[in-house]
Amino acid sequence: MSRPSHDDTSRSHRKVPHSDDSAGSNSRTPSATTGHVEIDGVVLKLAHPYDGPGQWIGQQEVLTQLLACWLTVDDTDLPLTPRLVGSPGIGKTQLAIAAAQRQKLPLYIYQCTADTRPEDLLVTPVLSQDGRISYHASPVVSAMITGGVCILDEGNRMNEKSWASLAPLFDQRRYVESIVAGISIKASPKFRAAITMNQDESTFEIPDYILSRLQPTLLVGFPNRQDELSILQYHLPYAEAEMLAMTVEFLQHSHELKLDFSPRDGINLLRYASKRMMQDPTHPMSKDQAWREALEKCLGGDALDLDNLAEKRRRNFGGDAVPLGLADFFFNADDPLHPDREDDEDDDYDERED
Ligand SMILES: Nc1ncnc2c1ncn2[C@@H]1O[C@H](COP(=O)(O)OP(=O)(O)OP(=O)(O)O)[C@@H](O)[C@H]1O
Ligand SMILES: [Mg+2]
Repeated sequence: MSRPSHDDTSRSHRKVPHSDDSAGSNSRTPSATTGHVEIDGVVLKLAHPYDGPGQWIGQQEVLTQLLACWLTVDDTDLPLTPRLVGSPGIGKTQLAIAAAQRQKLPLYIYQCTADTRPEDLLVTPVLSQDGRISYHASPVVSAMITGGVCILDEGNRMNEKSWASLAPLFDQRRYVESIVAGISIKASPKFRAAITMNQDESTFEIPDYILSRLQPTLLVGFPNRQDELSILQYHLPYAEAEMLAMTVEFLQHSHELKLDFSPRDGINLLRYASKRMMQDPTHPMSKDQAWREALEKCLGGDALDLDNLAEKRRRNFGGDAVPLGLADFFFNADDPLHPDREDDEDDDYDERED
């Protein structure tokens, strides 16, 4: 059986010259990633690629794993679309950005929300000034057409109906159907994607038939001491060494206690502390005072005593505050198959054996 040729894409998509063509063009792939494209007689306006910094510090293993997902072994092979999971602010989005930039491919980021509709993910009709309808390609479709990377950020904030519109994209078919524009759009062979996922109350359960298309699951962990310092130094080159040291100490201690304060928390804390210190040059605030105020204002009073906070969380939530391990993304806490489950039945069984 012959596999459909992915090169069909280049034939059915025609780039339309347009005055906007150079607008927002990206230094990585100039002009080819913006402008307009015609598909089966419908002109689509492409989204602008993301062009922010993509530095990834430390944890090279998970970056290598992500890049492996996007490789193709031979002409019949297809790239994988992994899920990136981990605590809030740990670097999931940053990792995906860094991987895309490593590949030197244009990058499009779609921020998923509970209000995302299928057409938002694909093609949106927009009424232009002259009363005509123009069709705007989403970041997903723009990445498909230009052969770029799409990050579906915080993917599990999106409901099942929206996910369903992407089902054929993330299996061997690699196309989407836009009902609004009346066209089907094939992904370029270069198209790659990754999904970041968050674990909190405002997320949806993604159905299994979608999850089975989003494989493998890559876990982003907390950085070690040296990497955490480098991350903070990179983002806050002006921060004082002493303040950096206090923040790294705080974050590392919180990781040890399995609390989920993240590099993002450290960055916010240091930003606020630095601003407070430079605010009044005649009566400068002491480092210690500024840092403690920042800690309290950014992360809450409880953060002043991490050991106490860890203990409190353990008591209140019966261990819910513990950051998620890889197994938690596959099994519910009370699932008998969960590898970390403390199994009372086993204990009973052992007792009976004795
Ligand atoms: N390894 C790293 N290298 C460079 N910057 C990092 C790294 N890890 C985290 N950061 C920085 O920490 C901040 C938070 O990262 P990011 O937004 O990627 O987290 P996230 O896991 O996607 O968070 P959320 O769950 O809220 O979406 C960003 O400013 C990011 O640049
Ligand atoms: Mg993110």
